[in-house]
Amino acid sequence: MAVLVTGGAGYIGSHTVLELLDRGEKVVVIDNLENGHRRSCAGGVFYKGDLRDGPFLDEVFRENDIEAVMHFAAYTAVGESISSPLKYYHNNVVSSLTLLEKAVEAGVKKMVFSSSAAVYGDPGRLPITESHAARPNNPYGDTKLAAERALIWAEGAYGVKHIILRYFNAAGAHPGGDIGEDHRPETHLIPLVLKVALGKSEQVNIFGKDYGTPDGTCIRDYIHVSDLARAHLLGLERLRSLNQSGLYNLGNGEGFSNLEVVRAAEAVTGGKINVSYTCRRPGDPSALVASSRKAREELGWKPRFERLEEIIETAWKWHSRHPDGFGEG
Ligand code: UFG
Repeated sequence: MAVLVTGGAGYIGSHTVLELLDRGEKVVVIDNLENGHRRSCAGGVFYKGDLRDGPFLDEVFRENDIEAVMHFAAYTAVGESISSPLKYYHNNVVSSLTLLEKAVEAGVKKMVFSSSAAVYGDPGRLPITESHAARPNNPYGDTKLAAERALIWAEGAYGVKHIILRYFNAAGAHPGGDIGEDHRPETHLIPLVLKVALGKSEQVNIFGKDYGTPDGTCIRDYIHVSDLARAHLLGLERLRSLNQSGLYNLGNGEGFSNLEVVRAAEAVTGGKINVSYTCRRPGDPSALVASSRKAREELGWKPRFERLEEIIETAWKWHSRHPDGFGEG
């Protein structure tokens, strides 16, 4: 039987496909290649298509013996979700519902879902545990929460067991160096900072320096993409062995301000990275730091990349070797 990976040509999806293949799992990938890169997909059966296309999904489920679904496909830019909320609801919620409906019809009872720290909004206390109230302050986070809720209700009605993984800030690249982060346009801090180090842009704009944090810039908890990928496999193992649903935060448990990220990147790349300050980006919480104790205890998950510099080093290796990312595709 195979694991169906939606968004398997995207950043976190492609790293998870690699981990699955390394473990000898059979993999079927769906990606509409709007943001994904065909070249990032290391193997498995590949379908180009959109999750909102019900007949297309029927065909994929008919042609393959699917045991479990790992659902990554989504739009992920917090800032864009504020200016184009309907685009986000349409893609992230409608896709998830269509996928869930078709999975239920096909008798698939296991799902691992990519959720996000964005469901917490601006948190009242740090570190954030899973019991913290979920009050998203941007449409992106709200679409993730809506999909989580649909999964929870689907368990009661149709017996679909799920693992919901709330990622904090994914960063870095596969240590092997062949796949990494390539969003178009790029909106994420670390790749933008590294573009400056590579001489591809002159400076990085820091969004806001008037937050209530020690240096006034936002704080995030960075987690290596391969550590996130491994958590999906542990989630799948848990579904297989215990047949129990669960919800887990995934972060390193340490917050770094945007300015500290720039300094860490300077230490890794050995060059000066110019910074300019602009106004706050709407929808940005001031600080997000995870408690991942539950994932450590229940899934046996332990990040291998615990230091920010180590994470940035893997990203730097990939960006230096692939200054144009995946090129055309
Ligand atoms: N930032 C800048 N300048 C930039 C880009 C980003 O200052 O050019 C800042 C942002 O304002 C934020 C921090 O850098 O304070 C991190 O921003 P990213 O865009 O790299 O990441 P986000 O925190 O907005 O979002 C990421 C994922 C989301 C996920 C979230 C969870 O993209 O999908 O982490 O913490 F929900």
